[in-house]
Parts: sequence; C-alpha cells; structure tokens
Amino acid sequence: MSISAIGRNIGESATLKLNEIASILRAKGEPVIHLGGGEPKSKPPVDALVAAGGMLQSGEIRYTPPDGIPALKKAIIRYTEDFYGRLAAPENVMASGGAKQSLMCILQAILNPQEECIFPAPYWVSYPDMVRLCGAIPVPVLPEDGTFHPRLQDIERVVTSYTKAVIINSPNNPSGIMYSEEFIAEIVDFCEKRGLYLIMDDIYHRLVFGDKKPINCWKFAKQTGEDSKLIIINGVSKQYAMTGFRIGWAVANKELIHVATNIQSHQTSGPSALLQHAATAAISGVQCAVESLRVTLENNCRVMVQELRGFDGVHITPPDGTFYSFPDFSYYGKDSVALSKFLLDKVRVVVVPGAEFGMEGYLRLSTCGTVKDITEGIERMKWALDPNAPNELYIGERKLVRDWA
Ligand SMILES: Cc1ncc(COP(=O)(O)O)c(C=O)c1O
Repeated sequence: MSISAIGRNIGESATLKLNEIASILRAKGEPVIHLGGGEPKSKPPVDALVAAGGMLQSGEIRYTPPDGIPALKKAIIRYTEDFYGRLAAPENVMASGGAKQSLMCILQAILNPQEECIFPAPYWVSYPDMVRLCGAIPVPVLPEDGTFHPRLQDIERVVTSYTKAVIINSPNNPSGIMYSEEFIAEIVDFCEKRGLYLIMDDIYHRLVFGDKKPINCWKFAKQTGEDSKLIIINGVSKQYAMTGFRIGWAVANKELIHVATNIQSHQTSGPSALLQHAATAAISGVQCAVESLRVTLENNCRVMVQELRGFDGVHITPPDGTFYSFPDFSYYGKDSVALSKFLLDKVRVVVVPGAEFGMEGYLRLSTCGTVKDITEGIERMKWALDPNAPNELYIGERKLVRDWA
C-alpha cells in the first residue's frame, strides 16, 4: 500500500492508547488502577449540562460559523480580558474541537515544510507529531541544568534561521512545573525581537496550587496590536472537567485567525454546535467547579508527593499545578516504556512512560483519580519493584505471587 511520508511518520497518541488498554482490561474484570489519565473525574459544571440538554431538546443543532458561534466567542473574549487583560475582537478568536485542534490549525497556518518549531522537554506528547503533520521539524530542547524548567539560553542555543515558532506549556504536562514569570517575560521579549511566533498553551493555567496564580504572558508583550505573534491557546477540557466536549480556542492576530479558520473550515467545518453551547455556559456560568477541582487536585498531589517520597530510589519534583507528577524512576530502569509495561503486566497499574514526553527514566503519574487510586497504585508499584517485598500481594480476593527477581 502506498502511504504518504507524513502519514507514515505519525505515531499513535500514547496516552489515548493507554486509555484504550485500561478500558479493555477493565472490561475483562482486571483490577486496573489508571494513573495514566489526563482527565478529571469530577462532573462538568451544571450550567454546561443544562445548556447542552436544552439545546438537544430543541433539536436545532446545525452547522455553525467555522470559528465558533458568537456567544462562545463573546465568552472567550471576556475570559481573555479577565485573565490576560487583552481586549480581543471576535476576529481575534477561533473556537475549535478542543485545544488540540486549535493548536493544529495554528501550526498549519504558521509552519512551512522544513521549518522548525521549538518546545522545551518534557513536552506534551502531541507536539512533535503535530509539527510533523505540517511537514515541519519538531525541535525539543532539554533544560541543560537537569531540571524541568527551561532557561532562555536553552531555547536560544537551538534557534536557527529555520525556526518559526516556540511552544510553551506552563503549568506543564507532564512535569506539573510552572515556569517562572521571569522566564515567561524573557521568552515573550525574545520571540518579539526575533520575529518568532510564540504559542502559549495555557490549558492548565487555573489549575495551580498554594499561592500560585495563572501567569499572564500578554502583560509582557510590547507588540499588542495586529502585529503580535503571540498566540494564546486554552479550552474547557481540563479546568471544567469537560474533556469529552471537545471545545478549545485560540486567540491571536486577525490574519492568523482568519487563515487558521479557513483551514479548520475544510477539516471539520468547526466544532459541534451542541458542545459550543455547553462550553459557553461553562465559561460564563458559576465558576465554583474550577476551584473545587483545583482543591481536589492539590490534595491528591500532596498525597502523591508524600507516597513517592516514601519510595526508595525515586526522586520527585513537587508539581506546582496540573494533574500530573513526573518522578524519576531511572533507579528501577532507564527504559521507561519497558518499565511501564512491566507495571501494567505485573500489578495492573497504568502509567505513561517518560520517553513519550522526551525524557527517559521518568514516569508520568496522574492525580486525576481518587486518593485511594494513588495510595494503592503506588503500593502496588513498590511491591512490584522492591526486591525485598514479600512474595505475595492481595488485590481484593486476588493473590499475586512474585515470580520475578
Ligand atoms: C498541554 C496540553 N495541551 C493541549 C491539550 C489538548 O486539550 P483538549 O482536550 O482541549 O484538546 C492537552 C490535553 O491533554 C494538553 O495536555
């Protein structure tokens, strides 16, 4: 069969694949603990459910403008003003089928084949393949000081004449680390001076812990008119626990949004009418669900860090937000794919290998589940990996016997 060169180079989404494996095993009655997921378990805001229900009952669910219905764009404009102090016009906004589609359309609107797009590692699994889908070249950059926090010189050293864009995701999936205000200020300034597009993937910006607050990249911009190459990406998936609703958005200069919208119009004609109404209601409605989710995640994260600190050989950098932690498991194996497969096979715990995020030796553990999931999951992992652990472990009625060294 003749398959395109781009198509051949695109891998499966590792995280979506793990979700599938977990649900197949669960359907077979296996006692799976899913610490691999990237979606909160809480319910979406009631406002969103009521809006979707009303719309469904009306039966009036039709095509919408490809960049989103006016009500949703209005809600996004208000959101952008509240969190960024940026006064956007409707022509500066495109709603999409998730932040993922916004990112994809923006990248397609920016990147020519062979141009380069830089992002710090560890990075969200989809960035490399999204860039490859444009025929362009992903350039992940590992912080040289061994932390999860990039420095401007890390980015500077990989910029070439082919560099077109930089993607920054903070708070970060998978590390949970929030980049400093100083770094955000520096990267905004650097990209403006070099004429590079800067894509700020802010999908986790409200899910931060302690006294942390969302960082507003826009306040550091000097180019604040239609010459701005700063793009803000966000969506309802994470903050409102609305992953399945698939609504995200991009805010950028009008020309870029116009081109990205043209691309989107030929891909999907725009996001679903029903779900745009639900997202509008979530963004415009009572916001207590966001705070309640944030508090739950903060508590779960505290438990996760505590459990991991009691795990011999494991090093954890405490997350500042998100629903992920990214401990260093290299003591138990440098090959994170093999390690995560071992944990799934032996103790039915799903974790995502660090290799998927550009860092070997690490595992991404999610705090989206319950405290019980976290404590039991880590207990099973300890049992599987500690050579001095007792020979048997009970999972409910099931007895696991250690048959490995
Ligand atoms: C960093 C990051 N950006 C974007 C997305 C995409 O979100 P959405 O569900 O809105 O497509 C995700 C989802 O996991 C993510 O982790």
